[in-house]
Amino acid sequence: MSRTIDSFIPEEKFSAFKREDLASHLPHAFEVLPPSCDTLSKTVFHQIQSLKQQCSTNSSLSSKDEDALDDGFMLCDLKIVQRKLKAWHLMFPRIKPFMALKCNPDQNVAHTLGLSPACGFDCASISEIKLALSSTGGNRKRCVYANPQRARADLEQSIKLGIGSMTFDGIEELQKIREVFDNHIEELKENGEEYESLEPPQMILRIVVPDGHSTVPLGEKFGASPDRVELLTEKAFDLGLDVVGVSFHCGSGCHDAEAYGTAIRIAKGAIDIIDSVIVRYNEMDGKKREPCCVLDIGGGYSGVDGIGGDLDRFTAISNDMNEPRFEGTTDEDETAYKVSTVVTPLVEELFPNDSSPIHIISEPGRYFVEAAFVYCARIYSAKVEKETGFRTYYISQGVQGLFKDVLLCDEIFIPIPLMVEEDDNSGTISMVNERSNGTLYESTIFGPSGESFDVVCKSCQLPEMKIGDWLIFDRMGAYTLSIAARDSSLPVRYILGGEGHVERDD
Ligand SMILES: Cc1ncc(COP(=O)(O)O)c(C=O)c1O
Repeated sequence: MSRTIDSFIPEEKFSAFKREDLASHLPHAFEVLPPSCDTLSKTVFHQIQSLKQQCSTNSSLSSKDEDALDDGFMLCDLKIVQRKLKAWHLMFPRIKPFMALKCNPDQNVAHTLGLSPACGFDCASISEIKLALSSTGGNRKRCVYANPQRARADLEQSIKLGIGSMTFDGIEELQKIREVFDNHIEELKENGEEYESLEPPQMILRIVVPDGHSTVPLGEKFGASPDRVELLTEKAFDLGLDVVGVSFHCGSGCHDAEAYGTAIRIAKGAIDIIDSVIVRYNEMDGKKREPCCVLDIGGGYSGVDGIGGDLDRFTAISNDMNEPRFEGTTDEDETAYKVSTVVTPLVEELFPNDSSPIHIISEPGRYFVEAAFVYCARIYSAKVEKETGFRTYYISQGVQGLFKDVLLCDEIFIPIPLMVEEDDNSGTISMVNERSNGTLYESTIFGPSGESFDVVCKSCQLPEMKIGDWLIFDRMGAYTLSIAARDSSLPVRYILGGEGHVERDD
């Protein structure tokens, strides 16, 4: 069987692209920030001001944008997405990232990453596959269908779309894939279409690894136990499917860098077993199956890179990232950099670059997008307890929306206050630096539903806020829009920070 392993080779060095390339490639427009936007708050204020201005001049504002002034909006800094890709290649030079679109299938993010051949996509659904294809100019080799259990209809569509590699973790899925592929070939034959050159998808065996150190463990749901590797490989070969490698996932939000080391060693064991089955089957039937060529080390990395990719987010300030440097407030252990200090030398030891046929890929989701989005919420209602001074504020996203991780993962979201004052005559707004002499009050922020558990943030310390002021929630790009607000009309506004241009490597 021929292999399309070239898609897994990280030979493409990251090179940043010019602002004009980005502008012509993205489906939605972005704004290059003016130099006055030198803090996150000023950038958000600048967006509110432009929205107000656009509303008042009746220029071409969509109803979504009009709603943004009431319900709030997401702000996305595409510069951060680019910087994350560059940081990735500095930390993991041998590992090609396939961004996990399930984490945030934002079109502009996907197209920003898709511009670089140094990045592929992990897709878990047909809509994600279509997004990955449109972001990569239709390059099917830059997609892995990495949800090991799929509905038959989805499988049919993915095979029609020509997806070349997918994960599996059970016999039933292998049988389904074989049947769907054979039916597809029959259909092509009946329609007199070309079919001879088509091969079944290349199979990557997802194994289960210890994932206890993650916020969202996935091992109960997906992954074959390593003691089933031999049997599953045999079944695949009996069905005429090619097994090209092994994948695992340490769980989303993995807090333990060593967990990757343990998992890679387990995966190496699985690869050795598959290779021994390959040798045995080749001897039996005379075919020339090649040894495994892919190790997919999944996602789970922190949204904090730890080498400065996040610096000066949402501002016009430009900075380079040539030397790794830690952000002062970051816990070093909770960074992608920390994972790279375990993974990078280990893959070199187990799969030496000059002699091993193994290409390594990864499926980071949160890593790319968490820091690239902030949620800007307008306070639409407020209450004060006169006796205690305790304040209650209401915003239009709650724990059934963007803030679902408050309930699911005990996440804590503390907002940055943005106080504004509107001039009654001119309607113009200005930023207020201080109210009530800087006194802070115990405050609770509620979401919009009728449920009393809809608490976004309990008992935080905030200055005196009023209706029409804003609360900025940072690091809101991962598993927010993708899950909670799928049907929401929450608009996303895009900016390109850092003076709107990025360094070219070449
Ligand atoms: C198979 C797979 N790959 C990658 C990811 C992305 O994980 P993360 O966003 O934690 O990097 C997930 C998340 O659930 C996943 O299930």
